[in-house]
This record gives sequence, C-alpha cells and structure tokens, in this order.
Amino acid sequence: MYSNQIICGESVQVLSAFPANSVDLVVTDPPYLVGYRDRSGRTVANDDDPDAVLAVYDELYRVLKPDSYCISFYGWTAIAAFASAWENAGFRPVGHFVWSKPYASKTRYAEYRHESAFLLAKGNPSPPSKPIPDVLPWVYSGNRTHPTEKAVDVIAPLVTCYSRAGDVVLDPFAGSGSTAVAAALKDRRYIGIELDPGYCALACKRLAGVAKTRRIPTAA
Ligand SMILES: C[S@@+](CC[C@H](N)C(=O)[O-])C[C@H]1O[C@@H](n2cnc3c(N)ncnc32)[C@H](O)[C@@H]1O
Repeated sequence: MYSNQIICGESVQVLSAFPANSVDLVVTDPPYLVGYRDRSGRTVANDDDPDAVLAVYDELYRVLKPDSYCISFYGWTAIAAFASAWENAGFRPVGHFVWSKPYASKTRYAEYRHESAFLLAKGNPSPPSKPIPDVLPWVYSGNRTHPTEKAVDVIAPLVTCYSRAGDVVLDPFAGSGSTAVAAALKDRRYIGIELDPGYCALACKRLAGVAKTRRIPTAA
C-alpha cells in the first residue's frame, strides 16, 4: 500500500491500482468546474471538464474503508453535478462546512465571501469525539505557488477531527500538497495524487521540509 507519497498522474487511473477499503480519510479540493483563471492568467487543469473531475468519486468510495469520511470542497455553481456524482458513488452527506472570508473573491449578484465543503460518509462512521463547528474562519494562503492553494490551517482541523494518528489521508487533487502537509504535521500518513508534474515537485519539496522537522519517512 502507498504511504507518504505524492503520485504524479491522473487520479482515476492511479486509484484503479489501489486496493479497495484501504484509505482512512479523503480530504480534497477538486477543480470547482468554473473555468477558473486568476489575475495573472493561471488556470486549474480540468476546471472546465466535469467528467475528468467527477469520475474520481467512484474510485474514492471504493478505496475508502467501510464507515469512513470523505471531505470535499466544491464550487457552489456546480453543486448539482457534484451532488449527483457523490450520490451515484454511494456517499451520504452528513455535514456541510462553510468558511467565512474577510474579503470578497468576486462581487456580482452578491459579495462572494465563503468557501464550502461537504462531509460525506461511506457507510455509518462513528461521529468524532470532539466535532468541530460547521462555520469556520477562512485563512488566506496567498496563492503564491498554486492559483487555488488552500492554507494548511484550513485543512488541519478537518484532518484532526476525522482521522487518528497513523491513519492514511488521501487527496486525489493534491495541487501544491496542502492536505498532505496538514496530514504529515498531524502525524497521519498521506497520499497525494496530482496531474501537474510542477505541482507534484512543489508538494514533494514542502513535504520534505515537514519530514526534516518531524522525522517522517518519505517514499521516493
Ligand atoms: C483546486 S486544485 C487543488 C489545490 C490544493 N488544494 C492546494 O492547496 O494546492 C485542484 C488540482 O487538481 C489537479 N487535477 C485536476 N484534475 C485531476 C485529475 N483528474 N487527476 C489528478 N489531478 C487533477 C489540478 O492540476 C489542480 O492542481
């Protein structure tokens, strides 16, 4: 089984080689299906291709252990597509997180000031011993290395609440590796999968930095 690795490749293809029922927790930040482009022209791969994003949830359901959680951010404009992919895969929504931003990402029909993620269950996981609030303060990452980088401080409370030390935490849309870094910092094992070789290299570099300070073995 893979552990403490960033795997460069397409998630459905990579995950098809994983055994069923082998992952403790998924925390992921998929392309939001909005055709994203930031001010400097940076884009996100597959952000305009629902099939290339939504097909991953079937594989996530298969590789997750029975009675476990998948936490998925999503773009609210594509909620119908995400919700149907989650339901078709077998997931059941058991919670919904909202992060309140102190600034607007965009202003049009409203000031858009929140991020959101669903807490999805495979089977009937036990509730966490100390549930976290479903409204949380946003922490801005600065998006320096990835156009939609999530701050480790946003991901870490999810990892701590919904997994235990030593568990395997998977992110199939790893980007710059924020979920893997949060998992490593919280003494979980991580698996990140990312299409873009540049982001894979960046994630590996960040994780090597964490490993140095925490003596975590990293796979080549
Ligand atoms: C929203 S970003 C994730 C950013 C990440 N949370 C971070 O903090 O850096 C989504 C990532 O998924 C990757 N991606 C898109 N489709 C993919 C696929 N089918 N398999 C693997 N990676 C994919 C993109 O290259 C992008 O880096």
